[in-house]
Amino acid sequence: MIQIGFVILTGLSIAITSEDVDTNIGPCLSSFYSAAYHKSYNCTSAFEYLSVAEDICAPTDVVELNAEYNSFIEILTEKSSDETNCSEPYYQHSDLKCFPILQDMAVKLKDVVDVHTEINDTRVLKLINLCEQATVGNLKLSDVFYGCIKQTCLEETEQTRIIDTCEMIKMKNSEFIVCNHKIQEKLADLSNHTCLDDFDFNLETNELTVELYSKKKECTLEIMRDSCGESAVDNFDHYADLLIKQSSPVQQLD
Ligand SMILES: *[C@@H]1O[C@H](CO)[C@@H](O)[C@H](O)[C@H]1NC(C)=O
Ligand SMILES: *[C@@H]1O[C@H](CO)[C@@H](O)[C@H](O)[C@H]1NC(C)=O
Ligand SMILES: *[C@@H]1O[C@H](CO)[C@@H](O)[C@H](O)[C@H]1NC(C)=O
Ligand SMILES: *[C@@H]1O[C@H](CO)[C@@H](O)[C@H](O)[C@H]1NC(C)=O
Repeated sequence: MIQIGFVILTGLSIAITSEDVDTNIGPCLSSFYSAAYHKSYNCTSAFEYLSVAEDICAPTDVVELNAEYNSFIEILTEKSSDETNCSEPYYQHSDLKCFPILQDMAVKLKDVVDVHTEINDTRVLKLINLCEQATVGNLKLSDVFYGCIKQTCLEETEQTRIIDTCEMIKMKNSEFIVCNHKIQEKLADLSNHTCLDDFDFNLETNELTVELYSKKKECTLEIMRDSCGESAVDNFDHYADLLIKQSSPVQQLD
C-alpha cells in the first residue's frame, strides 16, 4: 500500500513578537485567542471578551485589558493602513489570532498522516474545515478566525506551505487518491497497457509515483480513467503536481 506522507506543519514557526503588541499583555492575549478558538467564544461581544480574559489572564492584565478594550477592538477589526508593516498592531494581533488554528491543524494532521483513510473520514473532513477557516477570505465576518492566514505576516513560503498542505488534505479525500492507491497496488497487472511498456516497475515507491505522474502522465491518466472512471481524473493535473511535490525528496526533508 502506498502511504501518503504529508508535508507536516511541524517547524511552523510563527514569529509572535508579543512585546510589540501595544503593551506587555502578549501572553495574555495569546491565551485569550486560544481560549476563544477552542471554546468558540464570541470575541466581538464586550461581555464575553472580558469574562474570558478574567478566566485566563493575571488580574493586572485584566485591568489593562479593561482600560484598553476599545482600542483593542479597533485594532482587531480595522485593517492596518500599512499592509507591508508587520509591526503594526493589527498584524501582531492577527498572528496571535491565527496561531491556535494552525496549532490545532498540526495536531490533527498527525492523526491522518501516513494513515490510509476512506473518503469522508471525519478526521479528514474536520481538517478540510480548519483549512477553509484559516485560508479562505473573510466570508463570515462574525468569525474572527476566518481567513486569518492572509492577515498574518507569515513569510510567503510559510503561507504557501500551509496552503499546499491544505490542498493535500483535500486530495486525501478525493476519488483521485483512492484510484492512485488502487492502481499502484496492482500496477504489474496493468502492464498490458502498452503505454507502460518501458516502465520500470522496480522503482522505489516515491520515484515510482513521480515517474507515473510526470513522464508517464498521459498513460497514468488513461489507466486511472479505465480502472476507476471519470470522477477519478477530476482535477488530474493539479493533483498530479501535488503528488509529485509530496513525493520529491526535497519536500520530504523540509
Ligand atoms: C457576537 O456578538 C455581537 C455583538 O454583541 C453580535 O452582533 C453577533 O451577532 C454575535 N455573533 C455570534 C456568532 O453570536
Ligand atoms: C511600522 O509600524 C510601527 C507600529 O505602528 C511604527 O512604530 C513604525 O514606525 C512603522 N514602520 C514603518 C517603516 O512605517
Ligand atoms: C461523501 O460525502 C458527500 C457529502 O455528504 C457525499 O455526496 C458523497 O457521496 C460521500 N462519498 C462517499 C464515498 O461516501
Ligand atoms: C488490462 O488488464 C486488466 C486486468 O486484467 C483489464 O481489466 C484491462 O481491461 C486490460 N486493459 C487493456 C488495455 O488491455
